[in-house]
Amino acid sequence: MTRQIGIGVISLGWMGRLHTRAYKQIRERYPELGIEPRLVATADRVEAFRDEATENLGFERAYADYHDLLADPDVELVSICGPNFLHHEMALAAIEAGKPFWIEKPMGVNARQSREIALAAQKAGLRTAVGFNYRHTPAIMHARALVADGRLGRVTNVRSWWIADYASAEDGPLTWRYSREQGGSGVFGDLLSHGFDLVQFVVGDRISSISATSGTFVTERPKGLAATIGHGKVPVTKEKYPVENEDYGAALARFDSGIIGTFEANRVAHGPRAEYVVEVYGTKGSLRWNYENHMHLEVLIDDDNPRHHGYTRIMSDASHGDFGRFQPGPGQLMGFDDMKTVEAAQFCESVLEDEQLAPSAADAWAAAECDEACVASAADGTWHDVPRVEGPTTI
Ligand SMILES: NC(=O)c1ccc[n+]([C@@H]2O[C@H](COP(=O)([O-])OP(=O)(O)OC[C@H]3O[C@@H](n4cnc5c(N)ncnc54)[C@H](O)[C@@H]3O)[C@@H](O)[C@H]2O)c1
Repeated sequence: MTRQIGIGVISLGWMGRLHTRAYKQIRERYPELGIEPRLVATADRVEAFRDEATENLGFERAYADYHDLLADPDVELVSICGPNFLHHEMALAAIEAGKPFWIEKPMGVNARQSREIALAAQKAGLRTAVGFNYRHTPAIMHARALVADGRLGRVTNVRSWWIADYASAEDGPLTWRYSREQGGSGVFGDLLSHGFDLVQFVVGDRISSISATSGTFVTERPKGLAATIGHGKVPVTKEKYPVENEDYGAALARFDSGIIGTFEANRVAHGPRAEYVVEVYGTKGSLRWNYENHMHLEVLIDDDNPRHHGYTRIMSDASHGDFGRFQPGPGQLMGFDDMKTVEAAQFCESVLEDEQLAPSAADAWAAAECDEACVASAADGTWHDVPRVEGPTTI
């Protein structure tokens, strides 16, 4: 039997469009769920995006004010894909309206906002999902299984770096991302929220304390003269205005079990484009994953024969994560959109089965506490404990 679910997508920028495509894929990729997402409504302040939504993207209606979307009785679940500073009010309004939500990371602009969202969702008994999409790459699912099965022995240390060039052009527009009030903590919230979540997911352990430093290398940027989508280029002003948050961050971390971690993020790199790396070292082996080549996982498991000592490059196939739903055999690729389809399916299933399958608001709160510890440590030069979160986490 097919169950139709009314979907509302708040904000139709890069992520809003991606969530929309992901919902459309659920029926084809996860037929056994029997879910037929119905694109009831979107909400965006940009009129041209609203027109596009009803003309091209398949939405029945488009609102200028997201409150109208939340009041629409046909909308049962919502995606929250606005700029970071609107997540808190949008999520609390969704909770007030009793609608489960799939929210983008970072969930709030700081740990307080993230905590308030997570606790309010729990109090209302709502299932949630968070855009920690890198978790769903088949190679990462395999990495997590290898660690959980003890194949690497006892995990001793991890390294993760998130080096991107999306802000390397100094004339790139000063969007909400570069404002502390609107974007929050620069690369800590934008990139290392993924990094902290992903590493904790792979090793199955929580970060307990952090020491960090940070820098802003492109200190001013021109303003955009047109609506932007994601990191897109638009005509800009001649005048430049201050960048208020971090271009670069580096952190040392300690985990509950004694694992030591190093983390680094940079949004203004010249060279790597999206080099998002996770390395896990254990007493019997190690593994490496790089998003730029994300269908592969490099694994070394100690062998009795020292002449065989070296990394094996494993290519994802149907035995890893949800690969088999997207490609018939190894050698083919899954893409960024596919990871979002996994997330959309997990979100809908979490709500229908009332079981937390997707990364939860509590997981986003946990990452936000790590981000906040980084900001605090970078400011005062000392180690900071990472407060424990409550709720249905999926680490
Ligand atoms: N999971 C990931 O890997 C990933 C990747 C990129 C972005 N993100 C996150 O997704 C979120 C959105 O990022 P993006 O790149 O899509 O941004 P974007 O700038 O492309 O889109 C933001 C959208 O919000 C709309 N908006 C602004 N004010 C609004 C309002 N009052 N009501 C409704 N809509 C409004 C804008 O018109 C725009 O369409 C951010 O939190 C970002 O961190 C996550």
